[in-house]
Amino acid sequence: MTKPQIWVATFLVIFIFLFILQKVTKKEEHPPQMPTSVLTDQTTGDNLTGAELFSNFTCTSCHGTDYKGTKKGPSLIGLGEYYSRKELIAYLRNPDSFMNSKRLKQYREQFPGIIMPSYSNKDVKDLGKIADFLLGL
Ligand code: HEC
Repeated sequence: MTKPQIWVATFLVIFIFLFILQKVTKKEEHPPQMPTSVLTDQTTGDNLTGAELFSNFTCTSCHGTDYKGTKKGPSLIGLGEYYSRKELIAYLRNPDSFMNSKRLKQYREQFPGIIMPSYSNKDVKDLGKIADFLLGL
């Protein structure tokens, strides 16, 4: 082989080596199913308390981190006066079905343009935990 041929051959070998190295390391970069398991743990919380679910479901953004209400939603202290546990879960799943109550109608005027979302897509067990938590406030 002439000198230039040796150079070309050497570069070719280095190139192939790097190419294989890149393929091998790329495969190792994927950790098995990490993000999905973390996500599901946060949304359907088997081991989360009612208070933790309350903030995970972003209820705090309207009702406040102290549950005393904000400009976007009323205080949730003392709900036991108005709801049983069952009724409170039913309310969270379908707030509209309770709108014939005078108190809730007044909230519509007090918080114009803001409507309590329906949480019928959430696990009833989680809503039960939130209801227990709220009734204890
Ligand atoms: C977008 C703001 C917003 C979010 C988020 C929100 N709420 Fe509400 N909530 C309201 C408003 C406003 C009302 C008053 C009723 C109405 O206008 O629909 C209300 C009413 C309520 C009531 C009835 C209070 C009463 O005195 O009868 C309960 C209970 C309640 N929310 C719990 C929750 C829980 C639990 C969550 C989270 C799972 C939550 N809310 C998320 C805005 C919000």
